[in-house]
Amino acid sequence: MKLLILNGSPRAMGSNSTLLMQHFCEGAKFAVPAFDFEMCYLSKHTHFDEYLEKYDKAENVLWIFPLYVHAMPSIVKDFMEILYTAKPQNKPPHAFIVQSGFTEAAQSRFLEPYLTRFPGKLGCKSNGLLIKGGIEGIQIMPKFATKSLFRNFNNLGQIYAKNDKLDEKLCAKLRKPEHLNSRILLIMRIMAFLKMNNFYWNIQLKKNNAFHLRDSQPYL
Ligand SMILES: Cc1cc2nc3c(=O)[nH]c(=O)nc-3n(C[C@H](O)[C@H](O)[C@H](O)COP(=O)(O)O)c2cc1C
Repeated sequence: MKLLILNGSPRAMGSNSTLLMQHFCEGAKFAVPAFDFEMCYLSKHTHFDEYLEKYDKAENVLWIFPLYVHAMPSIVKDFMEILYTAKPQNKPPHAFIVQSGFTEAAQSRFLEPYLTRFPGKLGCKSNGLLIKGGIEGIQIMPKFATKSLFRNFNNLGQIYAKNDKLDEKLCAKLRKPEHLNSRILLIMRIMAFLKMNNFYWNIQLKKNNAFHLRDSQPYL
């Protein structure tokens, strides 16, 4: 199977999307050694013509992108519109992985109707949608904290390589929780009150010499 991965993270190679796909593809290769894939970074606008050519030869397409400011990154929407306008002859099935920082899948749910319908607009089939929250920070988490996530992505890749689609059961398991329960919300409120949830962001602000701007707000 020749899989074209359309990576919609503005962070491109250093992104969480890339890291998740590494585990996915490792699993796919393990299950089906002939599994072949190519990753296209949509942050490289100047390569869009080349990506269209690759699309024409793809047997399957998998989009992966993060939720940025409650939406798909503009580079993803841009390439979707380019594809729609180009009306390609090739009709590969499309699958989608939307990953985000907030834990609740409900944060990304509003993208679901659009992503479910988009392949049909190109005359293609849809072969799955995974919504996965809680991904922010996976690159700095200790190994034990990401072990199960990466194993699940490896399994997802294994099943995808064999069945040509994202496994519905595994997607349903991975998208949990849809909403945080009241116990977790209470813990989070206490953490917010103690300013403990600022820990990671303060590190980022200091790393970028922006700690003094932490209370800045956009003009409204
Ligand atoms: C500018 C920016 C905006 C973001 N907005 C959201 C958001 O609205 N909802 C959310 O759940 N996560 C949000 N996140 C977190 C990302 O979705 C999360 O870190 C994701 O794993 C990043 O993936 P990437 O490294 O592949 O780009 C945001 C991150 C950034 C940098």
